[in-house]
Amino acid sequence: MASSVILTGFMATGKSAVARALARRLGWRQIDCDAEIAARAGKSIPEIFRTAGEAHFRALEREVIDAIANNPERCAQCGQRRPAVIATGGGALVDPRNHAQLSRAGVIVCLTARPEVIARRVGASVKSRPMLTWGGKPLNERIAELMEARREVYARAALTIDTSDLNIDQVVEAIVATLARNRCEGCRRSA
Ligand code: S3P
Repeated sequence: MASSVILTGFMATGKSAVARALARRLGWRQIDCDAEIAARAGKSIPEIFRTAGEAHFRALEREVIDAIANNPERCAQCGQRRPAVIATGGGALVDPRNHAQLSRAGVIVCLTARPEVIARRVGASVKSRPMLTWGGKPLNERIAELMEARREVYARAALTIDTSDLNIDQVVEAIVATLARNRCEGCRRSA
């Protein structure tokens, strides 16, 4: 697996936890876009939304993705780009520029889950997810609406894994197995 793995998908599909476990499994670096945004802003994601609004959050998200995609860590010996597991926020790839940048960095994997599973996982932490409280709609309605709005964006991923009935290790193994199967003969020989 030469290029990076980018994990995207709706909120509460397991992106950050799977990214950490997958990075450990592959011995790669792990990057979390939302953590980078929060570190740069010196504020949590809900605080950024509350004090500066979604447009400002999306601008920070674009900057962070730009930096991640264009300044990869390189091997100190050979100078080759070091692959990473990159977890994006759930809305990051809605912006076609972010999609293009990350497509060049590696293979995009979308994690998904049934709406009722997402609602259950979000549970009491819904207040830390500004996109779900937007408009004051009932949670199920908002999840359905946002999922539908993003359906085509998520469908562009090279690989989709439904995490509804899987634990983190099972998701990691599903990703590793599928990516290994899809490598061409040349990549398999050089791995
Ligand atoms: C968002 C998802 C969040 C975070 C922000 C916006 C979205 O990340 O980036 O609140 O638009 O779906 P997670 O998907 O990790 O919760």
